[in-house]
Amino acid sequence: MERKDLLDIESLAVEEIHEILNTAAPFKEIFTRSVKRVPSLRGKTVVNVFFEPSTRTRTSFELAAKRLSADVVNISTDRSSLVKGESLVDTFDTLLAMKADLFVMRHSSAGAPHFIAERIPVPVLNAGDGAHSHPTQALLDAFTIREHHGRLEGLEVAIIGDITFSRVARSNIWALTKLGAKVRVSGPATLLPKGLERMGVTICRTVEEAIEGADVVYMLRIQKERQGSHLFPTIREYYQLFGLNAERLKLAKPDAIVMHPGPINRGVEISDDIADGPQSRIHDQVTNGVAVRMAVLFLLATQQKKPSLDEALAATE
Ligand code: NCD
Repeated sequence: MERKDLLDIESLAVEEIHEILNTAAPFKEIFTRSVKRVPSLRGKTVVNVFFEPSTRTRTSFELAAKRLSADVVNISTDRSSLVKGESLVDTFDTLLAMKADLFVMRHSSAGAPHFIAERIPVPVLNAGDGAHSHPTQALLDAFTIREHHGRLEGLEVAIIGDITFSRVARSNIWALTKLGAKVRVSGPATLLPKGLERMGVTICRTVEEAIEGADVVYMLRIQKERQGSHLFPTIREYYQLFGLNAERLKLAKPDAIVMHPGPINRGVEISDDIADGPQSRIHDQVTNGVAVRMAVLFLLATQQKKPSLDEALAATE
């Protein structure tokens, strides 16, 4: 993989996606060691700049960088000089002057990481920009599906919920279709964006139609914070029409898995028994997120002088 930044899935070649997933697999092995750390990014400084709330993504990036022995600094909006009126570019210039080697950035505006990436010389990793993109989420989801089903090619994946405001849905549609899976979507008509078919997905009128025969059932959170009013039925009605419960899951293939990017809203998009049930891979997604982010950090931060993967995995501190 020879690129400065990871900003979205659309610009990734299929070979690059495979390289990331194939690099993540041996990194995941490290989690079974008593010392879960390799020295491949020793001496590098990773700065997580989060302008939007996050629990799992920020922690996951932090752990990934630490397991590669990088130094990690976390910055969130409420405690940074942005509240004092400093511009985005000045904030990054300041952090660059302290010799940051790589930025992980989350922002509520689509395109903000692209804007910064064009202006600074070090890698920028998009950890979610508005409703646009969340590339590492799609990569960890592809990894999780491949881990269970052994492949992505030819699989039927149902993505259900608020598609319009979901960067997770958008990135997953790009990744899954590039990797040869077939994607169907279902959700309230007000939350299905125009032109979705052009992304190569099938729109299903009912949630049952979407789940029927699926290999993966992917539930989305309702992105209330991005929606205006009037787009969403009541929670009770939403759950009745689109929520995943045992009866609906029976329509999927017997070995189908259930996924969700988190945070989950129990009783809104998914029932308790399904979220915690045997087909759920929600915790695997979280575990795999660290491995996939290690892979991406490793591939981006070692562009100039890339050690072999064997070297990177060998020496445990
Ligand atoms: C997602 C996000 O922030 O885009 N969460 C995450 O990163 N796991 C999805 C969501 O908030 O619904």
